[in-house]
Formats: sequence, C-alpha cells, structure tokens
Amino acid sequence: EGLPPYGGCRMCLVEIEGAPGLQLACTSRVSDGMIVRTGTPEVVAARRAVLSLILANHSDRCLTCHRVVHCRPGDTCLRDNLVTHRCVTCSKDYRCDLQLACYMVGMKGYEPWLDELRTYYLTEPPPGDRANPFLEFDPQMCILCTRCVRACDEIRHTGAITLADRGWETHIAFGPGGAVHESNCDFCGACINVCPTATLMEKPNKWAASQIEDWVPTACAYCSVGCTISLGVKKG
Ligand code: SF4
Ligand code: SF4
Ligand code: SF4
Ligand code: FES
Repeated sequence: EGLPPYGGCRMCLVEIEGAPGLQLACTSRVSDGMIVRTGTPEVVAARRAVLSLILANHSDRCLTCHRVVHCRPGDTCLRDNLVTHRCVTCSKDYRCDLQLACYMVGMKGYEPWLDELRTYYLTEPPPGDRANPFLEFDPQMCILCTRCVRACDEIRHTGAITLADRGWETHIAFGPGGAVHESNCDFCGACINVCPTATLMEKPNKWAASQIEDWVPTACAYCSVGCTISLGVKKG
C-alpha cells in the first residue's frame, strides 16, 4: 500500500479481452469497456503454477497438505514423522500472508514435484540473526518478495536492506551482509509489518499469536520526521 505497482510476484494474472496471453492486474491500466476475467480455468492454473514456483524454496509441507484443515497451531503432524518444516511449528502460523495466498489460490493437493528431491529440504538452512533485542531475521523462510527492501527504502527512506548476489544465490542482506545491528537499520519495524512469512519477526512477540484488538493512528516520536504510524492496542 502506498507504493507504485512492482509486478514482482506475478500472482495477479488475469485475462483481459483483446490482450495477448494473460496480463498482470496490478500493472494494467483500467479503461472504459474493459472486460477482465479473473476465474477462468487458464487463469486459475497459471496462478497455481506461479505460486508453486514461489513455494519451491520454502517450507511448504503444510501449504499443499490435504489434511491442513484439521491442524491447529501446536498440533503434531500425523502425515509422517518429520515435524520440522511445517506451518504448525512456525511462529507465523495462522497470521501468514503466504498461507492465506495458498488458501485463496487453492494449493491443497497441488504437488507437481511429488517424488522429486527438493533442494529446500536437502540443504543446510542459512543461520538466523538473533543478535539484537528487536528484530529476528530468519533467512531460511524468505521467499524473496522484496517487500522489505521496498518498505525500508521507499517508505522509511533508510535503505538498510538489499537484494544481494544473483540467480540461485540471491538473498536478502542487511547493510553489506552482516548482522542487522551492524547495518543502518533504525528498528522501525516497517519491514516486519510487510514481510509475508516468518523471515522478519518482532523479537519479543515472535511466538505470541496476535492479541491486537484495535489500531490507533498516531505519530512516531522517534525522530523529527514524525511519520504517521498505527499502534496496535489491547484493552485501550
Ligand atoms: S512462514 Fe507461513 S507459510 Fe511459511 S512455514 Fe510459516 S506459517 Fe507456513
Ligand atoms: S526495521 Fe530496519 S530494516 Fe526494517 S524497515 Fe525499519 S529501518 Fe529498514
Ligand atoms: S524478508 Fe520477508 S519481506 Fe523481505 S523478501 Fe524475504 S519474505 Fe519478502
Ligand atoms: S505481480 Fe501483480 S500483485 Fe504481484
């Protein structure tokens, strides 16, 4: 919200009458008489295929599982004896944008990679950064959506996060690639707000389910800019 269209995820594919192939809704200009179809079999299949690519390097065992509706946070997986790599053991379970996207796109049972070896489960996860008291950075959960890079750069104008390296090696880095507290991060939390997965989490509340009852608009008193922020409150 508040940023120009970016077209990074390619999840908003639609059919626009008269236009070739499928188009991105977020970067298409609306015009008089335009006819847009959002639920044709071709559109649905393309969205699932795109999302399966995003899931290719993520802990996705729960996201495509046919039993997922039976599992609540803290449940033990009954599918097999490997209980790591699960939404049910993840701090973002039930408040996760990626989970929601999978539900909306209908990823249940969509596993074209079944019986293939998958790199995510075979490689050693990169180490997490828990060295500061505010923000936990767990790079193994990152889907490279770049929301955090854009929020830090284009909303906060801090530029503490970058996309480092290229191709398969591409990853999110703070500053030149060291610890978060050694970068120019202000710990404002904007990247935590936009991160769709459990990669960037507010440290004190990482394992607490959201208890916010209301949002109150106010101004941040941290510096002289006075950005508009919303405070989550409980019982006033
Ligand atoms: S970040 Fe979301 S999709 Fe990924 S394991 Fe955690 S709850 Fe599941
Ligand atoms: S918490 Fe740090 S890295 Fe995240 S948006 Fe704020 S300044 Fe940028
Ligand atoms: S850290 Fe979060 S917001 Fe940033 S690219 Fe990874 S998944 Fe996206
Ligand atoms: S490409 Fe359109 S919302 Fe991501």
